[in-house]
Amino acid sequence: MSKVFILNQEANVASNYLNELRDPSIQTDRARFRRNLERIGELLSFEISKTLDYQDADITTPLGVAKSRVITDKLVVTTILRAGLPMYEGVLNIFDHADSGFVASYRSSTGEDEVEINMEYVASGNLDGKIVILADPMLATGKSLLLALEGLLKNGTPKHVHIMAAIASQDGVDYVKNNIPVEASIWLGAVDAELNSKSYIIPGLGDAGDLCFGEKL
Ligand code: URA
Repeated sequence: MSKVFILNQEANVASNYLNELRDPSIQTDRARFRRNLERIGELLSFEISKTLDYQDADITTPLGVAKSRVITDKLVVTTILRAGLPMYEGVLNIFDHADSGFVASYRSSTGEDEVEINMEYVASGNLDGKIVILADPMLATGKSLLLALEGLLKNGTPKHVHIMAAIASQDGVDYVKNNIPVEASIWLGAVDAELNSKSYIIPGLGDAGDLCFGEKL
């Protein structure tokens, strides 16, 4: 594990977006909720961009030549359906040329306090040597995230994996740090202290998928 970065550890505009995501009176505006997740994805992507490999490039303008640089890494932006979609869009807003990958998984209740994670579908290209970003807005236990990553890793060995979440629990961060099988970094909006018995983050924000898209049957 090379690094854990937390956006709201310093004062910046991300706090406004996170506050709105958590506020029930603003959560009723679904488009704004999705847009705020997208914006956290954009800000974290900018931070990730500082870790990528670049090569020098001369850019010819109408008036001369500007010395610049371009990203040389090949990126694959992945997410877990369905709550991950707005954040995934935010990442793609920043990395124009990235490929994409998708995992479908869901949590089912097996008893009073138990939650089982079921994975149904993985779709991505070859991940060998690529930079993989896995965007999932709520890093709760970390188990569904690592299951999704395990599914993706059947498609190759990335150069580096970046895990991205808007809100994580401290337990989830520790679980991912201790169990992730590849070289990885974690990029978060905020870290909350607790998980409840149904594996929801406290204070968190509620059910991100429902707030983005409406309640499921
Ligand atoms: N998924 C959510 O949407 N919210 C949580 O608090 C945990 C997992």
